[in-house]
Amino acid sequence: MVAPDAELYPIAGIREHQFAVRFSFALGLRSYGFHLYMHSSRDGAILRRAANFSQCHQIHRVKSTTSHKRATLYCPMFVTHLECSACGDQHECSRLQNLCLTCGKPLFAMVDLAAASQTLKRETLATRKKSLWRYCEVLPLPGDVEPVSLGEGGTPLVRAEKFGDDIDLWIKDESVNPTQSFKARGMSVAVSMAKHLGATKLAVPSAGNAGGALAAYAARADLEAHIFMPRDTPQANIIECRELGAHVILIDGLITDCGAEIARRKAKEGWFDMSTLKEPYRVEGKKTLGYELAEQFNWRLPDVVLYPTGGGTGLIGMWKAFNEMEVLGWIGKKRPRMFAVQATGCAPIVRAFEARERNAAEILDAHTIASGLRVPKAIGDFLILNILRQSNGGAIAIDDEEMIHVTREVGSSEGLFVAPEAAACFAALKSLRSAGKIGSGERVVIFNTGSGIKYLDCYQDQ
Ligand SMILES: Cc1ncc(COP(=O)(O)O)c(C=O)c1O
Ligand SMILES: [Zn+2]
Repeated sequence: MVAPDAELYPIAGIREHQFAVRFSFALGLRSYGFHLYMHSSRDGAILRRAANFSQCHQIHRVKSTTSHKRATLYCPMFVTHLECSACGDQHECSRLQNLCLTCGKPLFAMVDLAAASQTLKRETLATRKKSLWRYCEVLPLPGDVEPVSLGEGGTPLVRAEKFGDDIDLWIKDESVNPTQSFKARGMSVAVSMAKHLGATKLAVPSAGNAGGALAAYAARADLEAHIFMPRDTPQANIIECRELGAHVILIDGLITDCGAEIARRKAKEGWFDMSTLKEPYRVEGKKTLGYELAEQFNWRLPDVVLYPTGGGTGLIGMWKAFNEMEVLGWIGKKRPRMFAVQATGCAPIVRAFEARERNAAEILDAHTIASGLRVPKAIGDFLILNILRQSNGGAIAIDDEEMIHVTREVGSSEGLFVAPEAAACFAALKSLRSAGKIGSGERVVIFNTGSGIKYLDCYQDQ
């Protein structure tokens, strides 16, 4: 595996005396079959809490692949349970779960941040390898289970040289992830958990990039992947999934039709549904976007984030990360103004935002070349809309022609061939700037969520 290895935590803990003592203690107890330790020796409050940790609170084993003395390092994990994002009901995290059993809304993994903060420190992060698993204490992988990893996360944050004009513009380049999109983050964590919790066959509806990521991580984990895609998904995504050994089923319809087909067949086929926000861990992988952003900006969040929004998982994940980091004492109360960028042909969030609605009505004739934005109904719509409002941000729709046009502008000025979803954010920046919603000198981040290379069909005749 690529990460984590001992380089990921290059003996940061071992050089520090305290850490070394705690590691030894953990090792000692673990060999007698205990699973709650380390912090309990130092902190009475955590000792009390430890009794409730049940199966969720275990230890990560990370094998050393270097010449360092210690063979094994441990990364404690502090997810305690799952909590419904709508009704607050609690669910166990020790078995496969999809949606809240009470109200059918998304579940979130809850992290004991007080306990996590004992080993997860801002200062020691710098010594860990650039990978999303550097934040392992706030990720949900239990026990001595190795993550299913292909080297995801730790992506560059690149300063725009020309496109930003009078804006302090930064591009978080997610196209360098495995399978060339940010979907790798969610799938690394979700496939790791699904495998650990006993799933053998994974199914996902996908606009393209999520399918490619699931296919890769499932292959790596030796699990079956069943990927349902609209027939007009970019060729590159379809071919990629097949070459990664997945079962690909093309559907005449939209991603919602793909999801419905999985829902119809999953019980009979024994598939675990990996739809975004319909299982609790893809959003955990995506939240590392927020952790990385804060870390790369030296713990000062930008003024504005422009995020290409389909299901909204990255936006929701980042917001969760910001809240967690505030509890950890890493950042203050200030949040970026979060903007959801959608396509004119499929803009349910924009429509609901403008109409001041709590949920977004389904778009019936959804169409756009930005396949990742062709999501007519998102299960986390109420969460997205809350974030946009709480952050004093907004929602904006861009048409396909503009995306195509801006792609070349970004490419020729910044040297990045961005996905059309990201191109929509660059176009949105121009509009928001002219509308005075972004001011001169403000620090803005755009997520280049994927590579333009996957969308050659869209650019062929331009
Ligand atoms: C390149 C790209 N950008 C953005 C999105 C939308 O992501 P989210 O579901 O987090 O809103 C997708 C989803 O497929 C995508 O592939
Ligand atoms: Zn609920």
